[in-house]
Amino acid sequence: MEKVTVSLRDRSYPIYIGADVLPAIGELCRPFGFSGRGVLITNSVVAPLYGPLVLSSLEAVGIALTLLEVPDGEEFKNLQVAGTLYERLLPLGLDRRSPIVALGGGVIGDLAGFVAATFMRGLPLIHAPTSLLAQVDSSIGGKVGVNLPQAKNMVGAFYQPQLVVSDVCLLRTLPPKEFHAGLAEVVKYGVIADKAFFEWLETHLPSVLERKEDAVIHMVETSCRIKAAVVERDERDEGVRAVLNFGHTVGHALEATTGYRQLTHGEAVAIGMVAAARISCQMGLCGEELPQRLQHVIERIGLPTALPVPPENLIEAIGYDKKLRDNLTYFVLTKDFGDVTVAPILDPIGALQNLS
Ligand SMILES: NC(=O)c1ccc[n+]([C@@H]2O[C@H](COP(=O)([O-])OP(=O)(O)OC[C@H]3O[C@@H](n4cnc5c(N)ncnc54)[C@H](O)[C@@H]3O)[C@@H](O)[C@H]2O)c1
Ligand SMILES: [Zn+2]
Repeated sequence: MEKVTVSLRDRSYPIYIGADVLPAIGELCRPFGFSGRGVLITNSVVAPLYGPLVLSSLEAVGIALTLLEVPDGEEFKNLQVAGTLYERLLPLGLDRRSPIVALGGGVIGDLAGFVAATFMRGLPLIHAPTSLLAQVDSSIGGKVGVNLPQAKNMVGAFYQPQLVVSDVCLLRTLPPKEFHAGLAEVVKYGVIADKAFFEWLETHLPSVLERKEDAVIHMVETSCRIKAAVVERDERDEGVRAVLNFGHTVGHALEATTGYRQLTHGEAVAIGMVAAARISCQMGLCGEELPQRLQHVIERIGLPTALPVPPENLIEAIGYDKKLRDNLTYFVLTKDFGDVTVAPILDPIGALQNLS
């Protein structure tokens, strides 16, 4: 079992990563002194697969969890479902040391985390991420929240968990499309922070794609270390945490423009990363080798690399991103693997048009 610590003073927490670590979640909870009553929030897909394991592991250390199930899907990460969960928590007689365990992908992590952050002004949160994206990204760093009909992740908080338990064996049941979507974020970490890790990915991609245990553990652990290091420097996303948005300016615009259905988040980010690297190259920040190697890895994963719509179609969505900041569109640009910079691009649509 590997351990990565997210060091945030009194909000520090461990991430345990390994094969078959979920059965140990009860033991891992022991040092925290949680009360004997808690809640397991999960969805209708994950509940039958891994719910019983979590319930029995916590029961063995004297914590009785009530399982609350929500339907599967991003569309249920909203205030109405959060409201239903509050209603269901009310009669359970919880106290301030009652843990909320989030068992699922990023949707459950964000939703259950938001409920944990707000119910009774905050209950201890434990993440048991079950998707690759959740293990390498959403369970680390404390962003919790829900969507509004008009905008994703618009209501939320920074609320760090007390413990994260990432069992890579759970990824065996993850659909290939979801596994590949998570890999986009993994590739991102190599580009923004760690050249040796990018090279490791180039070499070990076949084992990763076969989901070989050792390779997946190394990949999840390294990704957690990289994200933890960024979060430690900028917990509340006021500066360097922006590097995590590599590929996301175009990625988010693509998701919004295509109605969040045509592309997974990982596919949109994959396309966005190649675009950002090629723009960097065009600006003379890096040579052609970087976008080429990046594109090659992404293609080997089976993720798309070309814009599926003309750049002009992204004007409105990229403009929205601009509105959120100081009226400029920021890109994370690549100088080398492990060396990126955040800079405004005055004419992002023009830059994208020049690529084609
Ligand atoms: N908080 C953050 O910092 C952060 C970061 C990135 C993304 N997010 C959020 O994460 C969400 C996306 O997360 P996601 O990609 O995990 O999507 P998801 O939670 O919808 O999971 C993807 C699909 O896989 C299923 N699934 C999950 N684990 C499984 C398993 N082990 N076996 C079989 N099926 C399984 C889910 O039920 C779902 O159908 C978005 O809402 C996004 O906004 C949050
Ligand atoms: Zn992302």
